[in-house]
Amino acid sequence: MNILILGSGGREHTFAYQIAKSNHCKNLFVAPGNAGTAAIATNIALSVTDFTAIENFVVEKDINMVVVGPEDPLVLGIANHFKDTPRLQDVMLIGPSKKGALLEGSKERAKEFMLQHKIPTAAYKSFTKESLTAGKAFLETLKAPYVLKADGLAAGKGVLIIKDLNEAKEALGKMLGGQFGDASNTVVIEEFLDGIELSVFVLTDGKNYKILPTAKDYKRIGEGDTGLNTGGMGAISPVPFADATLLEKIEERIVKPTINGLKKEKIDYKGFVFIGLIKVGDEPYVIEYNVRMGDPETEVVLPRIKTDLVDVFKATYEQSLDTLNFELDEKAAATIMVVSGGYPEAYEKGKIITGLETIKDSIVFHAGTAISDGTLVTNGGRVIAVTSLDLDYKKAIKKSYQNIEKLHFDTMYYRKDIGFDLE
Ligand code: AMP
Ligand code: GLY
Repeated sequence: MNILILGSGGREHTFAYQIAKSNHCKNLFVAPGNAGTAAIATNIALSVTDFTAIENFVVEKDINMVVVGPEDPLVLGIANHFKDTPRLQDVMLIGPSKKGALLEGSKERAKEFMLQHKIPTAAYKSFTKESLTAGKAFLETLKAPYVLKADGLAAGKGVLIIKDLNEAKEALGKMLGGQFGDASNTVVIEEFLDGIELSVFVLTDGKNYKILPTAKDYKRIGEGDTGLNTGGMGAISPVPFADATLLEKIEERIVKPTINGLKKEKIDYKGFVFIGLIKVGDEPYVIEYNVRMGDPETEVVLPRIKTDLVDVFKATYEQSLDTLNFELDEKAAATIMVVSGGYPEAYEKGKIITGLETIKDSIVFHAGTAISDGTLVTNGGRVIAVTSLDLDYKKAIKKSYQNIEKLHFDTMYYRKDIGFDLE
């Protein structure tokens, strides 16, 4: 099979790493990819949202399967484009339709879906510029802290959590005034949930589903979960506190109603559902849906799937996940993200990276890397994810930290406390 992966981060390198191992994979392409994917596949300089260019490439190279990494092409309707284009109709695209992707593309839509299908989530109301006064009044009825969410995609920056009521009212005015462009034309205000976060990943073929390993990521830049939000500074899988009782509640109250909701609404969905959860006391609540895998969660979830990933995706496309023999590795996985100094604010690129070849017992997934004049250099905020598998998460974390010490680039930074809150 000829396979194309869309995206360029650690998530996509992990997909490529697993797919390259498959006996079914003949030629593997990644668009646009990074230095890590270039070593195991062919990188193609295509934009993930340029559907015409992707279409032409898929036809030219006789691509049989397309795996979509990031949300943007999904929200823009890449799955619909493939379905509606006669010469692409037989290509197995892994990713939901535009209507399905709205679960991530619109927070308001996601909340309505949860309400409709009785899926536990924080109480909310949504507001526009016209209802600013009502929005401020709604804030007065809530307890601090206040959670304000831009409805649309805002590159992970659209959620504000504010302690002071007046500041929250002011922030609402700014958001509705265009702070996040069109993404904040509508703002969802919701009740603050106090608990510990975890994520559950589900792969669905539209009829059946498989629950993938759980994971927990560390979003803040600073140790002790302080400082600015990032895409994620590390992750572990499975989540140690996600015991059988919690997982059963999640499956019964959240996963099943979500998949049934998609079916009832006749939404074409062949892809990942990433369910961001908060455990309040012993009860799980949904804080968000994403319609793709997480990054860096992929770097710990996929290495724990033993079944050939191409078989998994083929079953997803052919709606036969119910008969797929799906095997998981009992080992725990941890990944630590190595980033450019300054990230998530301004940072420099082009720093020479050394030491990778000395790492033997961890997997090095590239995120923001490139080859410049034959040399491996940094090319983004998040640069490399070092994943380890071991008998338990503490051992896995330790192995990653030992191996990170072998890496070097100017300004390199990483959190030294991944897993700190689980003691
Ligand atoms: P989201 O983009 O919806 O995942 O929100 C980003 C982050 O904000 C989440 O990972 C949580 O840490 C936090 N968050 C979102 N909604 C709530 C809520 N209702 N209560 C507490 N924290 C929240
Ligand atoms: N690590 C969080 C995300 O991928 O959205």
